[in-house]
Formats: sequence, structure tokens, C-alpha cells
Amino acid sequence: MVPLFTAAAVVTGCGGPFPQSTLAPRSDFSAAVNTLFTGIFWWAVVVFVIVEGLLLFVIIRYRRREGAGEPRPLHGHTALEIGWTLAPALILVFIAVPTMRTIFATAGHAPAGALRVEVVGHQWWWEYRYPDLGIVTANELHLPVGTPVQLELTTADVIHSFWVPRLGGKRDLTPGRVTRIAFTADSAGEFSGQCAEFCGASHANMRLRVFVQPDSAFRAWVAGQRAQPAAPAPGSLAERGREDFARGACIACHTIAGLPQARGIVGPNLTHVGSRTTIAGALFPNTTEYLRRWIDDAPSLKPGALMPAIVLPDDELSALVAYLQSLR
Ligand code: CUA
Repeated sequence: MVPLFTAAAVVTGCGGPFPQSTLAPRSDFSAAVNTLFTGIFWWAVVVFVIVEGLLLFVIIRYRRREGAGEPRPLHGHTALEIGWTLAPALILVFIAVPTMRTIFATAGHAPAGALRVEVVGHQWWWEYRYPDLGIVTANELHLPVGTPVQLELTTADVIHSFWVPRLGGKRDLTPGRVTRIAFTADSAGEFSGQCAEFCGASHANMRLRVFVQPDSAFRAWVAGQRAQPAAPAPGSLAERGREDFARGACIACHTIAGLPQARGIVGPNLTHVGSRTTIAGALFPNTTEYLRRWIDDAPSLKPGALMPAIVLPDDELSALVAYLQSLR
């Protein structure tokens, strides 16, 4: 019996933690949405209690009684009818006004001087470009705490939707136009999110992470991303991997700053891939094992992945992984 209850608690999510709960906001955007939700929730509670209370009252008060005879027919009650038309209209006003206010407040216009990030949706990963900082990265978004952020969303293929429940979204990334999200994160931390618009085979695997950092940590991250990764030591496994990478199929899709052959833009920019905590749309930890499996047969790990299976001799695969891990 106990395992059954445990299983039920896990299935229904009673165990926590809740990394993607909109009820634990950590930005002005998500706080506004949460406040709106809470307000509407309590209006719904009031309506529920009144309607169900009246229903119960009528069921009990006017139930059929033995020997009571036929009830007296009624026709219309003008005051009541006006009342139950006006009351819902009033409640709708109380819901509509805060809703409109929230829609405008979260429309996506950050104050001047906000940190700009271009978010590009791809099947099935996220590209982040910081145009004012000269940084391009993937899947893991780094932001400074307490600083207004302006996200400008576009897509390279189909419609996606950017959603980090505790910070902001959902907002669609639509071909041919730029949509916006603006928010200011109020606490440092790691937040997970995901694509919220069905976009093909691996829609559910199009995950993302946001690292909200104190100013100094964010500045250190920026400095690291702007620098070119150190060249592998001569004669090292990573150096062999670098040569294999420059000669292999990888360069058709991936860019690595400092490796002139690698200029592909179809796949994620790998300049600092070794510094990320996850790979493949924030789906797997960035470990030796997963990197090997990912290169060897990406589509088996992530259905539909455009990264093809790259079958290599074992030592070549090890060298390639060593090189990618050196890109910090
Ligand atoms: Cu991208 Cu769903």
C-alpha cells in the first residue's frame, strides 16, 4: 500500500521540487502573471461557492416531498434576471481590467539600457546571441540578476515558444517576425524552461536553462565567452581531436572561433561547448559518456535530431570528445 501512495505522490508531483512552477515567480514578468492568476483564482472561488451553495439550497429546500402535490408554476422574475445578467458582466470586468493591464505590462518592452539577447529557435535547440557583447552560445542562457533583459525572439525554421515558467514566457518564435520578452530577474539561480509550442519530433526534448548570476559572476562568464578557447597542448589527445574536427564532417554545421575551417551555422556554436553543463538542447549532462553517445548516434538519443550519427573508430571518438571538452 505504501509504495502505491509513494507512486501516486510522485506521479502527481506532490514530492517537489518544482523547477518549472509558475507559482514561484522570480522576475517582474512572472510575478505579474502570478498575481493575475491568483486574483482570477479567488474570483473563481467566490463564483463557485455562490453557485454551488445556491444549487444545494434549491435541491434541499425544494426537493419533492411525500403528499405535497404539484408545485405551483412560476413565470419570470425581472429583478432576478437583471441581477444574474449584471453580476457575471461585472465579474468579467473585474477579470478583464487586470488581464489587459498584465498583457500590456508584459508586452516585452524593456527600459533603455537593458541587456539585449537574440533568441533563435531551431529544431530542437536554442541559439542565444548577445549582439552588444559579441557572444553566441546555445541552450544555456546566462543573465545578470537585477538587470532588465530584452529578449528578441526569432526562428530558423518552424514556430517555437520560449518558456521559462519562473522568469518569463510563453512567447512564440514566429517565422518572419521578431517577438519580444522583457523581464528583470530578482534572484540568482538556475531556472529550467522548455519549448511550449509543438514543433516536431523532439519538441518535448527542446529544453533550456537560464543561469541568473550575480554581477561579478556574469561578468566573468562574459569575459570567458569572449576570449578564444586555449589551443590544446601539442601532442595531446585534444590536439588530435582538433585536427580530426577540422578535417571531418562537423565543420559543415558548427562554428568554433579560432578554428577557421569550422564556420557552419546549422548547428550550435561550439566555441565554448566545454563550459556548458548540458548538451543536445539541455537534454543530457555534458559528460564524456553522453558526448560520445551523442556524436556516435544522436538520433537514437533525440528522435529526429538533425545531428547525424557519426560512426568513428574508438580512438578518434575519444580525441574528438577530448577536444570538445577542452573548449572552455
Ligand atoms: Cu520548439 Cu517545440
